[in-house]
Amino acid sequence: IKDHLSLQSNGSLSASSPPKQPFIIGVAGGTASGKTTVCNMIISQLHDQGVLLINQDSFYHSLSNEQLERVHEYNFDHPDAFNTELLLSCMEKLKHGQAITLPNYDFKSHQSTGPGQKVNPSDVIILEGILVLHDPRVRDLMNMKIFVDTDSDLRLARRIQRDTVERGRNIQNVLDQYARFVKPSFEEYILPSKKHADIIIPRGGDNDVAIDLIVQHIQSKLGQHDLCKIYPNVFVICSTFQI
Ligand code: ADP
Ligand code: C5P
Repeated sequence: IKDHLSLQSNGSLSASSPPKQPFIIGVAGGTASGKTTVCNMIISQLHDQGVLLINQDSFYHSLSNEQLERVHEYNFDHPDAFNTELLLSCMEKLKHGQAITLPNYDFKSHQSTGPGQKVNPSDVIILEGILVLHDPRVRDLMNMKIFVDTDSDLRLARRIQRDTVERGRNIQNVLDQYARFVKPSFEEYILPSKKHADIIIPRGGDNDVAIDLIVQHIQSKLGQHDLCKIYPNVFVICSTFQI
């Protein structure tokens, strides 16, 4: 801490800014629960703050030709479908103020495409995805963990609509995939991760009160966050000087 305190000519001590660490929020929940919608609402309310949204979907493994031939047998809702090592290394870099290259995932070809997108670190980072609360190493990076809890029938209805319109699927395939992989993996991996959440949002983006409270909490934490995170005792020391 002495590296960040200096003696002024009038005898007082002043603190220079310690290295910044972002406030990292995890947003998990079942497919089409409203995770992206909730994140966008939080971001729009934190308009004065730089917020970076990272989607776990960006870290899906690309399928091999062999896997592509049998894509209807592939479980995209299993933790192994994601390159979690790459996700962890990207999040570690962002946490320490370094830029990353974010893979660009295409839901129609089931591949990462192009060179990826350069992304700079930010004061607030939101990591959103079905399984972001599953791996303890990913959870440990987070300052705040949210689970978006929306009824399964509503999620399935939204998923059919979205996947047929935006992700190039037909209804029969969406229903088959849902019954074979999406629902069982939700019950086995996603729903149990809810117990790790600090906040559970019923009804997703319809829950304005929950979003308001979350935004207030983030704003109240942001001011004290950097010092607390790096030097847990710094406020005790500072208050002694003030007295
Ligand atoms: P997720 O990120 O969890 O997959 P999204 O936020 O992308 O979920 O929502 C999935 C679909 O449901 C989108 O088409 C979105 O427009 C729609 N949707 C999300 N929340 C609501 C809501 N509260 N009311 C109506 N439609 C919604
Ligand atoms: O946006 P959402 O959270 O719904 O995205 C995750 C879902 O995308 C998973 O439930 C998975 O079944 C689906 N998915 C897919 N095809 C891929 C990759 C993911 O249907 N190539």
